[in-house]
Amino acid sequence: MKAWSEHLVPLKVGNLADGGELYQFVRIGKGCLSYMAVSNGEAALFDPTRMTEVYLEFARSINAEIRHVLDTHLHADHISGGRMMAEQTGAAYWLPPKDAAEVVFEYKPLQDGEKVRIGSTTISIEALYSPGHTIGSTSFVIDDQYLLTGDILFIDSIGRPDLAGLAEDWVGDLRETLYARYAELSDDLTVLPSHFMIMDELNEDGTVAKKLGDLYRDNHGLNMSDEAEFRTMVTKNLPPQPNSYQEIRQTNMGKMLPDTDKQREMEIGPNRCAVR
Ligand SMILES: [Fe+2]
Repeated sequence: MKAWSEHLVPLKVGNLADGGELYQFVRIGKGCLSYMAVSNGEAALFDPTRMTEVYLEFARSINAEIRHVLDTHLHADHISGGRMMAEQTGAAYWLPPKDAAEVVFEYKPLQDGEKVRIGSTTISIEALYSPGHTIGSTSFVIDDQYLLTGDILFIDSIGRPDLAGLAEDWVGDLRETLYARYAELSDDLTVLPSHFMIMDELNEDGTVAKKLGDLYRDNHGLNMSDEAEFRTMVTKNLPPQPNSYQEIRQTNMGKMLPDTDKQREMEIGPNRCAVR
């Protein structure tokens, strides 16, 4: 069970300009997804798990150096490998400042509109402030082709807003992000979320990815015209909160340093970041 929960499968999602590539790392046992964008020997890593060796080895295998590590939000369902990755590689570690108020280590604040570049100057990674799951939740538009949605929008569901106990406060932000901010983006962007919950969300090649336009057509959470109904759905009848989510948040803030066995134990169980 332990080995299964920690197993990551790297899959190529597609190409970026000038020979760059985008990879999705599927943590099948827990439903977590992380990403590596690569261009001319430089890589950016998004929402890495604590299994940092997998990313290091993969980067080595494609002759890339990890220059940037970015978390879409302060995670409550799994322990982020972001800080450790940055320490091991010398990469910059970016976090949304609104989620990082209690973080006790150095990080680079990820502001709306911030552009991070890797390798060839044509690959741009643009931060898009998209609160709702957490107050700092940030998405990324990569190479004008891909939209990394973090835990705001999944293939078959949407993000839950209550993992810091603030569902009532954040529901308006979630609505604004899904029904206004994302709605202004191109339907052709490929949505790449940070989780999946059911096997139906996987494509035939094993990737988890779908066009934004398809999600506006098929995803129930994007098709609730009645705002009151939407509010009820995302604040009432929520699934139980993930195992040890408060301790996981503390760990991701750097306030707790559990050993590996304890980290494993904290991550037992499904991710439970979605509502549908
Ligand atoms: Fe999350």
